[in-house]
Amino acid sequence: MTDLTVNGRPLRFALDPQMPLLWALRDAANLTGTKYGCGVGDCGACMVLVDGAALRSCLVTLGEAEGRVVTTIEGLSRDRSHPVQQAMVAEQAIQCGFCTPGIVIAAAALLARNADPSEEEIVAAIPNLCRCGVYPRLVTAIRRASRVARRAERISAAPAPGIDTQDAAAAVPAIRAPEQENTRP
Ligand code: FES
Ligand code: FES
Repeated sequence: MTDLTVNGRPLRFALDPQMPLLWALRDAANLTGTKYGCGVGDCGACMVLVDGAALRSCLVTLGEAEGRVVTTIEGLSRDRSHPVQQAMVAEQAIQCGFCTPGIVIAAAALLARNADPSEEEIVAAIPNLCRCGVYPRLVTAIRRASRVARRAERISAAPAPGIDTQDAAAAVPAIRAPEQENTRP
């Protein structure tokens, strides 16, 4: 058994502690906002906050996360109100969106330790790969998010989802039994 806090809730995982944290979050906790890109630490799509640091959850084992506080994209805010979320939408810094959760997590960690990062500091702090190439807009969005976080600007670009994102994730079973009507006699 491995105990950790995920998005403010205590969770106990009855899984192999050598399992990557990414798989435990996605397949056991149904927190599928954290993406599986490369699985080897290159892309950053799997980033989550572990005790406030943005880590690649494909490289962290469940056992290594024992006792830690983990925040996934679903737990960053309940209503999309985090300045990075608002600014990413306002600056249209999202295309397919696959890389976006990891980037938002990395940017949130950056702003938590540096309230007014320069362009160079943003580029250094966001190693995430984006196959759609949103990099220029990404820098603009994170600069804008820093202004919002410092209350130098207000934006309201991303409305609240209307559902609790954690409940939505929990309502989707990771593994479904085959539908009876789809099986041949
Ligand atoms: Fe973890 Fe790519 S899936 S870095
Ligand atoms: Fe498509 Fe980044 S928006 S991979």
